[in-house]
Amino acid sequence: MKPTILVIVGTVRQGRVGRKVADWYLNEASKAAPDMNFTLLDVAGLDLPVFHEATPPMMHQYSNVQEQVAKHIAAADGFIFVTGEYNHSVPGSLKNFLDYVNTEWRHKAAAYVGYGTIGGVRSIEHLVQIMTELRVASVRDHITISALWNAFDEQGNPKPEHIMGDITKQLTELKWWVKALQAARAASNNNEKEAS
Ligand SMILES: Cc1cc2nc3c(=O)[nH]c(=O)nc-3n(C[C@H](O)[C@H](O)[C@H](O)COP(=O)(O)O)c2cc1C
Repeated sequence: MKPTILVIVGTVRQGRVGRKVADWYLNEASKAAPDMNFTLLDVAGLDLPVFHEATPPMMHQYSNVQEQVAKHIAAADGFIFVTGEYNHSVPGSLKNFLDYVNTEWRHKAAAYVGYGTIGGVRSIEHLVQIMTELRVASVRDHITISALWNAFDEQGNPKPEHIMGDITKQLTELKWWVKALQAARAASNNNEKEAS
């Protein structure tokens, strides 16, 4: 079965660039890696309040809204984060989304697409740290889109001279991790079943 990869767009403001980048990436990724299924998860569509649950997500006493987020994450084998950069870091709406659930992320893999003045690289670096805490393995190869004021053509696609990185190379690496971790998760589930 083809692995399911969630393409997550984390900004939510009116007129955001994030959705444009995610739609472009989704199209390019489906051509570059037809052996994986790419699905968009738009954080704006979830309409999440600022996280205010009574118990930390690692205790797994989920509210209805947490269950809703958990269902998306649990169904995925890997993730592509499409991230802007707000004040040299991850946009608050994306961090808020990441704080909602915990174990559903575990032992999966992620790759990153950044956009901003210098390609959102500072946001990506912070995001990698956050995903390490959620026990997600991060792919080294990033895609970045720089100098946003002039980066898009009339169709809303980024111009080649503003894009750095190779999507095929990035997805080949992501697939390696996704397959390795799928096998490892299955083996550890089997071990747990045998022990019980
Ligand atoms: C609150 C805020 C802070 C920003 N800080 C940065 C920054 O630190 N570095 C940068 O390259 N761009 C920064 N920008 C510009 C964004 O890169 C640009 O607005 C981008 O389109 C934001 O993503 P979005 O359109 O998906 O919201 C900032 C924009 C906002 C709204």
